[in-house]
Amino acid sequence: MRTLKPIHIGSVKLDTPVILAPMAGVTDMPFRRLVKKFGAGMVVSEMIASQAMIRECSKTMQMIQRSDDEGISVVQLAGSDPVVMGDAAKLNVDRGANIIDINFGCPVKKIVNGNAGSSLMRDEVHAAKILDAVVKAVNVPVTLKMRLGWNSENMNAPRLAAIAEECGVKMITVHGRTRCQFYGGQANWAAIHDVKDAVKIPVIANGDINSFESAALALELSGADGLMIGRGTLGRPWFINQVIEHMVNGQPAVSPSLDVIHATMTGHLESMLAHYGDYAGLRIARKHIGWYSKGLPNSSEFRAAVNNSADIQKVRLLIDDFFHSILDKAA
Ligand SMILES: Cc1cc2nc3c(=O)[nH]c(=O)nc-3n(C[C@H](O)[C@H](O)[C@H](O)COP(=O)(O)O)c2cc1C
Repeated sequence: MRTLKPIHIGSVKLDTPVILAPMAGVTDMPFRRLVKKFGAGMVVSEMIASQAMIRECSKTMQMIQRSDDEGISVVQLAGSDPVVMGDAAKLNVDRGANIIDINFGCPVKKIVNGNAGSSLMRDEVHAAKILDAVVKAVNVPVTLKMRLGWNSENMNAPRLAAIAEECGVKMITVHGRTRCQFYGGQANWAAIHDVKDAVKIPVIANGDINSFESAALALELSGADGLMIGRGTLGRPWFINQVIEHMVNGQPAVSPSLDVIHATMTGHLESMLAHYGDYAGLRIARKHIGWYSKGLPNSSEFRAAVNNSADIQKVRLLIDDFFHSILDKAA
């Protein structure tokens, strides 16, 4: 099994290159802090719309809030106008971002129709203008996240990676699917190797890494310098740390006890309430509570009760009862 070594993202050293993927609606400050606390190498913000950033929309301002215990602060920007993206990047650096990541991967229609996200992979000239503008606008490393290409006939990730390196981009992450695949099928980790061969800067493999076996295979087939994990962390904020223990320190993976899962869910709920306020916090927390409880005994009844309650104190009690009843039955 290949082991992971520290990488340099321009001037930033990353000791353990296993990274939390940006996920809109998921990788907010409470989740990033939690995943980092468990021991992730680095965590990335949700995608921030550059236009909304420069207009300082209140929702966007909440999305870019960061905390020192997140470690290296990476803000991901989406957009299509080089000047606006450069300005948005600068604003984020002024607010403490240590790295700016650019989104060339989002497949969602609304984003693609605005000529942003994965749409930019179809226009290498315009893509280069964006990369050049952002690199020139800031004095911190700029990284790029993309897919293999628009569709299977146009897998131009290696060429675009070389263009990005030429523009001064310091790290490339590749989700091993094309835009037209959305999230279907299986990520093609071997195709990421062509990107690795095209550039000297670090390349990170992403897509469908949700077990130690898939982490090892993705690293092997892609030849990448590190891994990025998204959905594998849902309800498992400790998973990236387990991968690091396994692949960097050669330690056997320890699964968290029920007590740890209980405390993590409770702590995560409380930090979402503090971040969003009670009303929005509880509603956003429900999906995380669902992910944490998946596969545990009586979890569907528990989720239904949580989803039907708007009373925070009641939800706290439901969570405690859920875990106590599992422990009682196991005793
Ligand atoms: C709910 C959700 C939101 C996402 N939001 C973003 C985003 O804001 N920016 C981005 O580059 N990718 C986004 N992605 C894609 C992930 O970063 C990642 O590339 C993809 O999920 C594949 O990795 P995984 O199999 O480890 O989840 C999102 C994925 C999901 C499931």
